[in-house]
Amino acid sequence: MPRERLCLRVPKVCGQHGISLATKLMIIDRLLEVQTDANFVYIPLIRQPSAEELAELQVQVPDYLLQLQMFPEKRKQSNTVMELLEGHLPPHLMASLPKALDVIGDIAVVEVPTELDNHKKLFGAAILAAHKNLRTVLAKAGAVSGDYRLRDFEVIAGEPRTNTVHKEFGCSYQVDVAKAYFSPRLSHEHQRVSSLVQQGETIVDLFAGVGPFAVLIAKNHIDVKVYAVDLNPDAVELLRTNIRLNRVENRVFPLVGDARLVVDAKLTGVADRVIMNLPEKAIEFVEVACKVLKPEGGLVHFYGFIHKPDSLDSLKARFANAVANSERRVDMFLIAKTVRETAPYTCQVVLDAEII
Ligand SMILES: C[S@@+](CC[C@H](N)C(=O)[O-])C[C@H]1O[C@@H](n2cnc3c(N)ncnc32)[C@H](O)[C@@H]1O
Repeated sequence: MPRERLCLRVPKVCGQHGISLATKLMIIDRLLEVQTDANFVYIPLIRQPSAEELAELQVQVPDYLLQLQMFPEKRKQSNTVMELLEGHLPPHLMASLPKALDVIGDIAVVEVPTELDNHKKLFGAAILAAHKNLRTVLAKAGAVSGDYRLRDFEVIAGEPRTNTVHKEFGCSYQVDVAKAYFSPRLSHEHQRVSSLVQQGETIVDLFAGVGPFAVLIAKNHIDVKVYAVDLNPDAVELLRTNIRLNRVENRVFPLVGDARLVVDAKLTGVADRVIMNLPEKAIEFVEVACKVLKPEGGLVHFYGFIHKPDSLDSLKARFANAVANSERRVDMFLIAKTVRETAPYTCQVVLDAEII
């Protein structure tokens, strides 16, 4: 029988992302069928999203709308993680169950609080039972660290692997989270930057990873050149696979090495647009971005972290100062905004700067 539910309406192009986000936030009503029409995807919700969840929706799918809608029931119903664990976990631990999970291809990535340490396999099994599209559950086993920005994982349920194929905005990516950085939480940024690219541009992605900016840009624009640099040879190997998978061999050019050395050797003065997604260190590479831009200048998408009480304005000032020290000037900041909260009091932010 059809049921009326609060739903998240997102533009069709963001449909998969909206479903992943609603799954991650655990607000999707999995007993009802997602609906689509020519322009939108309608995702049934089990409850009103909280203020923080609304803020995340605003960042990730800014064109979303909440509305009431009728949804048909799914034929085969599976229980939620909470329902599956009810009676198997002491009540005080039920409250500690993580409220969100990241979905990368058919892998769920979760942060298991220490008090659930002895029950993590049970938790992982419940996730697999509740989400039939998933095959593996990985628990984060440390912070992102090192030059390659990797973290350790523990397989807590399902197939013992860390590689999968992730789909995002019509592109497929071979990903191995143990070998190369990838975050589905940045998909909105991948799409936003791609949508700003103009015909005929040369783009340099200084910290390309497995290619979510570079491949999407090349997929969406036939008349561009994207140089995609990364220090991590495994990331560049996956990037090469992704270039082939998405048939953008004639537009994306992978380069392995330290961005400073690669730019000096091959990419000085070539770019209309530079992407700098290495938030903890990007400020040290502003000089490199200035070098890679064409003499007349161009655009830089700069990702950084802000640790409160530090502010966006102080990051803008540091960025502008680093540009000035590289014999260039920030003509204007087109965008300066928070992309996501990464920890209490820490945000990832983006500055889009026009540099001359
Ligand atoms: C935060 S990840 C971003 C990857 C990708 N842009 C994305 O959005 O998924 C940063 C990447 O920068 C690479 N990296 C770190 N230091 C580098 C350097 N000096 N030169 C080039 N790449 C570097 C790391 O290996 C990592 O893949």
